[in-house]
Amino acid sequence: MPSIIRLSQQVADLIAAGEVVERPASAAKELIENSLDAGAKHITVEIQGGGIALLRVTDDGKGISADEVETAFLRHATSKLRTKEDLEAIATMGFRGEALAAISAVAKVELLTKTEEAPFGRRVELAGGEVLSNEEAGCPKGTTIVLKDLFYNTPARHKFLKKDVTEAGYVLSVCQRTALARPDVAFTFIKNGEIVLQTPGDGQLKTVIYCLFGNSMAEKLLPVAAQHENITVSGFVGRPEAARGSRSMQYFLVNERPVKNGTLQSAVEQAFRKQLTVGRFPAAFLHVSIHPGQLDVNIHPAKTEVKFAREKDVFDAVYYAVKTALSESEMADFAFQRPSSMEKKAEITAKTPMAVQFREDPTLVRGDLSEDAREYSSAIYKKHKNSPNGDDIIRESNLAQSGMVSLAALGILAEPSAPAKPNDKTELQAQAKTMPPAYAEPEWKPSATVRPAVPLAVEVFEETPMQKPPTKANEEAAKAPDDTEVSWRFVGEAMGTYIIAERGDTLCLMDKHAAHERLVYEQLKKEADLLPAQLLLEAPVLHLEARETAVLLENRATLLRLGFEIEEFGGGSLRLLSIPSVL
Ligand SMILES: Nc1ncnc2c1ncn2[C@@H]1O[C@H](COP(=O)(O)OP(=O)(O)OP(=O)(O)O)[C@@H](O)[C@H]1O
Ligand SMILES: [Mg+2]
Repeated sequence: MPSIIRLSQQVADLIAAGEVVERPASAAKELIENSLDAGAKHITVEIQGGGIALLRVTDDGKGISADEVETAFLRHATSKLRTKEDLEAIATMGFRGEALAAISAVAKVELLTKTEEAPFGRRVELAGGEVLSNEEAGCPKGTTIVLKDLFYNTPARHKFLKKDVTEAGYVLSVCQRTALARPDVAFTFIKNGEIVLQTPGDGQLKTVIYCLFGNSMAEKLLPVAAQHENITVSGFVGRPEAARGSRSMQYFLVNERPVKNGTLQSAVEQAFRKQLTVGRFPAAFLHVSIHPGQLDVNIHPAKTEVKFAREKDVFDAVYYAVKTALSESEMADFAFQRPSSMEKKAEITAKTPMAVQFREDPTLVRGDLSEDAREYSSAIYKKHKNSPNGDDIIRESNLAQSGMVSLAALGILAEPSAPAKPNDKTELQAQAKTMPPAYAEPEWKPSATVRPAVPLAVEVFEETPMQKPPTKANEEAAKAPDDTEVSWRFVGEAMGTYIIAERGDTLCLMDKHAAHERLVYEQLKKEADLLPAQLLLEAPVLHLEARETAVLLENRATLLRLGFEIEEFGGGSLRLLSIPSVL
């Protein structure tokens, strides 16, 4: 028998399916994208058993005609692409003709669909890629696809699925991202018969943010709206106080496609650099519109990563859009300050390298950058372009988590070849003379029909008790580093946040909050199982990113042993009932 053989079609299909469908969330993503491409205005995603037992996506899109229902499940069968030239500028979410073939290879599928013109709908059943039945059926215009027993015929893949609660969290996360990408579409997510997420499709991104993350996030948003080199950036960033300890509140939607992209991440984080301490990450909900020809979405089977033909322009557009939003908000605050401090600010006369032209059109900023500004953003861009996941920032944040930060990260020591950095106060002062009053976003109020992510009356739990400024821990934190050889000498404190210490020729900056957290963490680790819990009088509601919630729920028993008792509180939120009394 020859050692090299051609695989059977069935095996080849299973292998190909593995690339597209990794878990229920990836199947949900493909089905939702199909609904969007079909022009749906209402999409409902329903799951049972984490989406493994059942995943149903219903839409009111254009439907599939009776003579094409079986073709739709063939590999490389698509209505969205015709020639290789079309690949150069993809304007739809799907384009490979792979998703339905992949899904039907690894699940039992039922499709119900009807077009506007057809007198009847069609019902098709498939299992393992084989059509079992194809018959007339009564149904409204649109498409419903039901998947049952995902990976029933690929036990190896099934083994790698996580607990139902985690898989459900992943599906919720997909729904959240898509809802943010398409505020004009009404999304409903139902988990085990309970509505977990609902957006009204009123076209307002702020409404979606409110539905997903509650009022506490919606009221901390700064509008972003700018255009640079035919790249439009719009949406919101969170005020600095809305920042998180991770990037879980960063959402980037490029041409309405939720994506992960290091350039976008770096641009936002650099714009916030002076506003946030190391280890804090801004919240961002940003839509970037760019000519499809300038964008490659065909670099990963999941289509969640994109490549920009002109990354530098994209970086500039986002950086300045966010910087402008932050400056305007500071200007608004500035206007309320006492005259003496205004004068003090006016004394700063250094030349500003940043000169973004501010809004003429009330909805857009034209990003004409001065030479200095271009040079500056070039330097930042160069620093981060080789770290697609913002590695520099991650490294800095890791240092912060261990209680240490680099001087360069704090902007105290200039990096060797970095050009002069803009002085934000100077920028503000210079801009104050030229810019119109801060753009006033039309007052946004949630409509009576919109359900927030958490009940409005309940304050979302933002600051954990561990983040409260420590007192005694400051000195302890200063002693924390290893003192086996020469001991550390406490030098002083900077910005009310960093402890400065020296040892030999080493200078150490320590974030005292992070250091305190570390001390408490070590204590918790040592005393695990012995920790008495303290019930909270007002149990705060935690509104976290879907996957974070899933991880907490999955580890509920461990947390309970440590003194943290949590319970589900509806709408994807959690309630914290107790904390270790040591906190
Ligand atoms: N919900 C739907 N409503 C209307 N037509 C649909 C729907 N889902 C699928 N189709 C049709 O079936 C075809 C095949 O879908 P499939 O998802 O396999 O491929 P695709 O969307 O074209 O590309 P990709 O593999 O990148 O998703 C689509 O091109 C579309 O014409
Ligand atoms: Mg598709």
